[in-house]
Amino acid sequence: MNVCKRLDQLLLQIAEIGCDQTTGGYNRFAYTEADHQLRVFFAQTAEELGLEVGVDAANNQWAWWGDPDREPEHNLVLGSHLDSVPSGGAYDGPLGVLSALSAIAELIDDGFQPRSAVGVANFIDEEGARFGVACLGSRVLTGETSYERLSQLIDYDGIPFVDVVSASGVDPARLGRDDRALSRIGSFVELHIEQGHQLIDLHAPIGLASFIWPHGRWSTTLSGTPNHAGTTRLEERDDPLQRAAHFVLELGELAIARDAIATCGKIVVEPNAVNAIAAKVHLWIDARAEDPDRLAHLETDIVALAERLGGRLVNDSLTPMTVFSASLNQRLGSLLENPPVISTGAGHDAGILASHGIPTAMLFVRNPTGVSHSPAENANREDMAAGVDALIRVIRGLTS
Ligand code: GLV
Ligand code: MN
Ligand code: MN
Repeated sequence: MNVCKRLDQLLLQIAEIGCDQTTGGYNRFAYTEADHQLRVFFAQTAEELGLEVGVDAANNQWAWWGDPDREPEHNLVLGSHLDSVPSGGAYDGPLGVLSALSAIAELIDDGFQPRSAVGVANFIDEEGARFGVACLGSRVLTGETSYERLSQLIDYDGIPFVDVVSASGVDPARLGRDDRALSRIGSFVELHIEQGHQLIDLHAPIGLASFIWPHGRWSTTLSGTPNHAGTTRLEERDDPLQRAAHFVLELGELAIARDAIATCGKIVVEPNAVNAIAAKVHLWIDARAEDPDRLAHLETDIVALAERLGGRLVNDSLTPMTVFSASLNQRLGSLLENPPVISTGAGHDAGILASHGIPTAMLFVRNPTGVSHSPAENANREDMAAGVDALIRVIRGLTS
């Protein structure tokens, strides 16, 4: 079957799951009904291809073509994630998982038999939209996030992580580092929609990744004195929302001064009433820079800003700068006729695995809008076909 036709069909099969019909955006958060449906879809699709499906101790899903324990150091793992940010696009995550399944399906049809096993991973909760920690599945898998930390997490409705997981039928006490699953990842190649303009500017349908910018997430709460909006004189107010406005504006200025990036994309106001001065404002901050020093300086600036405005900055997650495997990139470069190599400010499970010593690479597929984490994210059919074709070449090249 034509590679893009198969990928189109798979994308179509999940197109309705978690889709907000009015905006076209996706809400696919870990351990929700949408996530459950996507996991069932992943398992069924992989099983129909004859793959062996399982889960690891972090609740990530795996589908194996061939025996993953025969020569685990030679195994090739592909895949990505199926969850989304709030009102996300259709491709961030799913493109990597579905392109991998399409590539394997194509090779099976061709009668190709890999000498070492090929796996497809569906990492749970990559976006961290529900519990605030990005790449939670790969962080738990590698032991980077401990059970103690998991037991402190609460979701966007204030429900503890452990209760959410228990309600899904998984014993949270069993979540943790999984050495067996890790030992099966000989190398990992994550295909992903590009989340910027570089491949557009380079006129290239696909690219390889050099490194991921160091980045992190923080949060702070500003408290004030709730009171009546009509009877409290302006000069007598202690309004945390006014301070939050200063925080957001000054955050941007601090990032510019450090030649870095910072975003306050989520604010929760309590009690959020039109005619009451707010009691509390919770702010979440995402900051990234091209090198660790710049990010560390920016963090110091943000700590001081939060303190000046009456808050205390808490770090929710930190991802160090990740440099992808030079030797794997070299092999992929020669298999794929040397596509351009680009850096990225976006985080990925591939980055977590790479920082734990697993030979890892990433393949980006051009995004004609250059927009991501938004319904405007896009991919055209020729470029998606180039992505699947690249994975086919990578599987052939690395497993025969
Ligand atoms: C994940 O997509 C991130 O970079 O936040
Ligand atoms: Mn994303
Ligand atoms: Mn992603």
